[in-house]
Amino acid sequence: MSQLIVFDHPLIQHKVSILRKKDTASNKFRALVEEITMLMCYESMRDLPLETVEIETPLQKTEAKAISGIKLAVIPILRAGLGMVNGVLNLVPSARVGHIGMYRDEQTLEPHPYYCKLPSNIGERLAIVVDPMLATGGSAVDAIDQIKALGGKKIKFMCLVAAPEGVKRLQEAHPDVDIYCASLDKGLNENGYILPGLGDAGDRIFGTK
Ligand code: PRP
Ligand code: URA
Repeated sequence: MSQLIVFDHPLIQHKVSILRKKDTASNKFRALVEEITMLMCYESMRDLPLETVEIETPLQKTEAKAISGIKLAVIPILRAGLGMVNGVLNLVPSARVGHIGMYRDEQTLEPHPYYCKLPSNIGERLAIVVDPMLATGGSAVDAIDQIKALGGKKIKFMCLVAAPEGVKRLQEAHPDVDIYCASLDKGLNENGYILPGLGDAGDRIFGTK
């Protein structure tokens, strides 16, 4: 079974609380999503392999540490996942960016995929799928199905707020994919929204409501 990692760092918790407030405006919301993603990314990269390389300082040659042989892809689930991309790129500028377009039907809550473009050699990369919300889990499961169908092997899923229902569904469908989140919330309401949650992440990031 995959791991669920909930980040309890005070900076992350504090920023998530501001994100949740209904009066937080879109420009601040966007900035916070990026900052929280960067902090989560920093923590979630702890297990990247290091190698020893020889470098030359202005004074002498020395051995130093460098991240070894890992290529990264960050893959946002559109739209809301776009808000998290720069948080990863700020720390790993060389990461490639894939896109998976998907919207959730408001009645059935089923995901409807409409776009998929991934970096080449996805099977050789560590793919970090980003989406602020893991609600029923339908979108995340479908996105990861698509990545695996195109050869993806090493995948992590990073969200800001997760519902227990979504975590269960994702862990059952993809037991090899670890889940990173800033908060595990109470559950879903009758419309499939996370409680207490933060509302519609896409609308809040892009100011469409
Ligand atoms: C939201 C969110 C996730 C999905 C989560 O996107 O960003 O992709 O819902 O719900 P699920 O776990 O029940 O599938 P939405 O479909 O509203 O699209 P948007 O990002 O374009 O607003
Ligand atoms: N999508 C969102 O944007 N928010 C939720 O609470 C659930 C799904």
